[in-house]
Amino acid sequence: MKLVFVANWKMNHLAADARGFVEKFRALYKPSDRADVGIAPPYTTIPSLAAALNGVKGVMLGAQNVHWLDNGAHTGEISAPMLKELGTSFVIVGHSERRQFYGETDAGVAKRAKAALGNGLRAIVCVGETREQYEAKKTNEVVLGQLRGSLEGIKADETAKLIIAYEPVWAIGTGLAATKDDATRVHVVIRQELSKLFGPAGAQIAVLYGGSTTPDNIAQFTSTADIHGALVGGASLDAAKFNALIENGIKAQS
Ligand code: PGA
Repeated sequence: MKLVFVANWKMNHLAADARGFVEKFRALYKPSDRADVGIAPPYTTIPSLAAALNGVKGVMLGAQNVHWLDNGAHTGEISAPMLKELGTSFVIVGHSERRQFYGETDAGVAKRAKAALGNGLRAIVCVGETREQYEAKKTNEVVLGQLRGSLEGIKADETAKLIIAYEPVWAIGTGLAATKDDATRVHVVIRQELSKLFGPAGAQIAVLYGGSTTPDNIAQFTSTADIHGALVGGASLDAAKFNALIENGIKAQS
């Protein structure tokens, strides 16, 4: 399967930083048929990043969330048509920081994912267990519950642009990435569930790993056929690091 590497800048980088990033990145990055690359900056930085990326082949622009309605009385929210107007082609939904700190639920995530897909955007739906749940050996139960809930109402023929990101909460921003075995085990469970939910279409859905990936550890993930790339936080803020992560990830693909 084609790999996917997505930079999640979270609440980082002003317009000048984004321009600096692209200047460095475009000098290093070699587009490959084996991988799609995306960057999800803060909403406010999308226009500058779109302008800076003009002409950089194969790099998709995305956002970190999206509302389920096209418009209306929803102060502070951003809709899929608004994001499309800015040239984005994908959105991240259900990131654990949204779930943990901003009360997002599986049902809400499902509505956001459906709106993204319905508007022709790729939707990266995030799932992952907390440290307590991991230690209590509830990983599969939690991840499968989130997966089913966050994909509720999505039909098999709507999954062409669906991507899943497995991000153990305890691995995000901690420097403690999951081991290859731990991650692979969960990816296999997710992939089985996707096949149950969507039949043959489920097997075509890319499942990314996220959580403290670096240029040094990415090979342990992409060297297994069950992991199709990464959602990258910290290591994506620096152009050289993100590029090295992509290159090493592609090299290691089994
Ligand atoms: P991290 O973040 O790479 O900094 O751990 C990943 C994410 O939150 O998507």
